[in-house]
Amino acid sequence: MPRHIAIIMDGNGRWAKKRFMPRIVGHQRGVESLRATVKACRDLGVEYLTVFAFSSENWRRPDDEVSFLMSLFLKMLERETAGMHKNNIKLKIIGDRSRFDIPLQKTMTDAETLTADNTGLTLTIAANYGGRWDMLHAVHQLLQDHPEKCTSFTETDLQAYLSMSAAPEPDLFIRTGGEQRLSNFMLWQLAYTELYFTDTLWPAFDVKELKKAIASYQDRERRFGRISEQLKQAE
Ligand code: IPE
Ligand code: IPE
Ligand code: MG
Repeated sequence: MPRHIAIIMDGNGRWAKKRFMPRIVGHQRGVESLRATVKACRDLGVEYLTVFAFSSENWRRPDDEVSFLMSLFLKMLERETAGMHKNNIKLKIIGDRSRFDIPLQKTMTDAETLTADNTGLTLTIAANYGGRWDMLHAVHQLLQDHPEKCTSFTETDLQAYLSMSAAPEPDLFIRTGGEQRLSNFMLWQLAYTELYFTDTLWPAFDVKELKKAIASYQDRERRFGRISEQLKQAE
């Protein structure tokens, strides 16, 4: 079983469009898919689930879609946090929060504080997140704390300043919606992750689809630069 699954939840708009509905209906349905996926991961014993909810590039969308997504995010947190807490889920939010309005920032912090000591699944939501932002931010912080390391810091030093420093790197990456790209998601952490792409649109993604992705992962050989025979020897 993968310990850490990272998902780009893509295809909400197209799901709605196919049904002659406005894109926002797809986003609403996407929240249902997320709830089902969180539950399935818990049941399957996955320890970390990290999902891309809003990228640093998504501000380029039409204003009304952006503001709908912001209010959906706020509503989702208000509605779901207590249930997550009851289910022992630890909620974390990564990304640059300074661009969100104050009530949303406060709700995010409250949800994290409430669930901080939970020991079940860690659900991380990436919001106004970008992989390049994450790395730049980490370098800035590291050099601020350790200017003497300017030309000598190591991968481990940098890793400690990245937003996912507390979690193992993702074992399995899933992108729904048919596009085969990373769209600036977790660029550092995905270096050795197994990638899985499906045409299924996010609102249609369900437990069956999740199990298919996990089965594909379980079929792969993770060599991390070694050759197959070395892995067999080590077994
Ligand atoms: C993903 O679905 C959700 C967000 C980016 C917030 P999209 O909104 O990108 O849906 P498509 O890709 O246009 O179908
Ligand atoms: C990536 O989806 C971001 C999220 C799912 C939050 P996009 O739909 O924004 O990605 P691109 O623009 O097609 O690469
Ligand atoms: Mg998209």
